[in-house]
Amino acid sequence: MNVEKDYQTYSAPGRVCLYGEHQDYLKLVVIPAAINLRTKISLRENNFKKIRIQSFELNKSDEFSLDRNLTLANNEFDYLRAIILALYGEGYTEDLPGYDIQISSEVPIGSGLSSSAALLVSWLTALDDQLGMGLTKMEIADLTFKAENQILKINCGIMDQYSSAIGGIFSLDCDGPPYTLKSFTSEFDSLVIGDSLVRRSANEPLTILKNRINEGMKKLDAKSDFNLKTITQEDLLSFRKLLTKDEYKRLFGVIKIRDLTDRASKELAKVRRNQDLNLLGTLLTEQQKMLNENLLVSIEKLNRLVNESIKAGALGAKLTGAGLGGCIVALAPGKEKEVAIAIEKAGGKATICSIDYEGSKKEHSK
Ligand code: GLA
Repeated sequence: MNVEKDYQTYSAPGRVCLYGEHQDYLKLVVIPAAINLRTKISLRENNFKKIRIQSFELNKSDEFSLDRNLTLANNEFDYLRAIILALYGEGYTEDLPGYDIQISSEVPIGSGLSSSAALLVSWLTALDDQLGMGLTKMEIADLTFKAENQILKINCGIMDQYSSAIGGIFSLDCDGPPYTLKSFTSEFDSLVIGDSLVRRSANEPLTILKNRINEGMKKLDAKSDFNLKTITQEDLLSFRKLLTKDEYKRLFGVIKIRDLTDRASKELAKVRRNQDLNLLGTLLTEQQKMLNENLLVSIEKLNRLVNESIKAGALGAKLTGAGLGGCIVALAPGKEKEVAIAIEKAGGKATICSIDYEGSKKEHSK
């Protein structure tokens, strides 16, 4: 008997953030795009009430028992433990059978392409189907967010989990729950990704930046009817004296990215042929300027990949994800190959991706 046949496979995509970087945890609007790089989980039930995991990319394995004493183990498989803890905690299940699991991923780890959400979402999609829980994709996104934010204590917002579960390109107002989601059909189908090959943990830039922005906001809150959704650049200038130079600079960057995202959202809401690709590209590059100069989450290598992409014909480019390493994303319709070559020449690793419109799913068995 071929045992492999018993395995069932589930998968979820990585994503790029096109507009709204570092806006989700501030309850503002983001526009991510899911990409055709996926994390796959194959599993079959075992009779041991144990999760037995094997990861091909990491060349590592792990095993843990499924009981109420389950805790995190402080290793790379905590993502799987966290989902089970979230299911226990939210009362979805008391009793899980054991599973043998194989993980394989096309989403590079620590690269700003949301490898962690792709893993969390594909794992919960698998459990949802196996246990017949009937979760909607939004519920999958909400639960995986809880697992990452509250159980794994990562300072992330909700963008990655929504993008990976739902797929496509949409604007998401992160002031919820419930969150408002508007789907778009973009005039472009592919994007060029440039990996700086500089790896970091996303939690580092997220924590530093979130703390700085919160310090500035607290001061404004104490003195005015401060609202991050509506405050203008002029209003912020009038509060200049209440803030340190650094707090002002970062808050200015947040407000500017909020406005660039709003402009992009209006453009993407138009029918495909009326979308101004030059404008959409410019909005990416203007955001990169803010991420570099005001939010201070870019690095020299990312700046170089952005500049070389534009020189090679991209309409615009920016870093994607938390920053301080990882990838850039470039919009280069018709010039994808030229831009990919320029990225490689500048010391990056280029991948031409298409937008994934499926989100998380069960793979058909061959
Ligand atoms: C990480 C987080 C996201 C978001 C981005 C920055 O990818 O997981 O929630 O905050 O950083 O835009």
